[in-house]
Amino acid sequence: MPHRNLISMLGLLGLFAAAGAAYQTKIEKVVPKDISPANGKAMFQEYCAACHGTDGKGTGPAAPALKKAPADLTQLSVHNNGKFPDVRVSRYIEGMDTVQAHGTRDMPIWGDVFKSLNRDPAASTMRVSNLTEYVRSLQGK
Ligand code: HEC
Repeated sequence: MPHRNLISMLGLLGLFAAAGAAYQTKIEKVVPKDISPANGKAMFQEYCAACHGTDGKGTGPAAPALKKAPADLTQLSVHNNGKFPDVRVSRYIEGMDTVQAHGTRDMPIWGDVFKSLNRDPAASTMRVSNLTEYVRSLQGK
């Protein structure tokens, strides 16, 4: 199926990194590194910090080049009546939610990227779960 191939190719190119001076922010798509699925913090720094910032507040170096500002991941509980929206966060990271129906989104579909890193689906599940736990640990920071 040609469509499937296109989707997994886009998945491989899913990670963005920013380069260049402040007046000329350029986004490069690079093949993501295979960080251990067990290490939420290291995965966050490698896969998420370019846009969301190392502190998760949404001010990473690639943020100015995006159409939409990356979410402040430290305020998710505050905006959800004090309860961390873990299911929504996991589904958002994986790319399973309806966002695709609203056209292109700036955030990569990590579910596809993670599948391209490990054949074992359990590894992708562990990545999403440990990233979600790491984002939980950033609440209120
Ligand atoms: C290329 C930039 C980029 C990268 C890399 C990125 N994000 Fe995002 N993220 C965004 C943007 C922009 C939004 C805001 C909505 C949108 O456009 O999808 C967002 C939204 C989110 C949301 C939704 C927050 C809410 O309000 O529900 C979560 C959760 C999230 N990102 C987590 C992550 C995690 C975890 C990673 C790393 C695995 C990551 N993001 C990597 C750009 C990025």
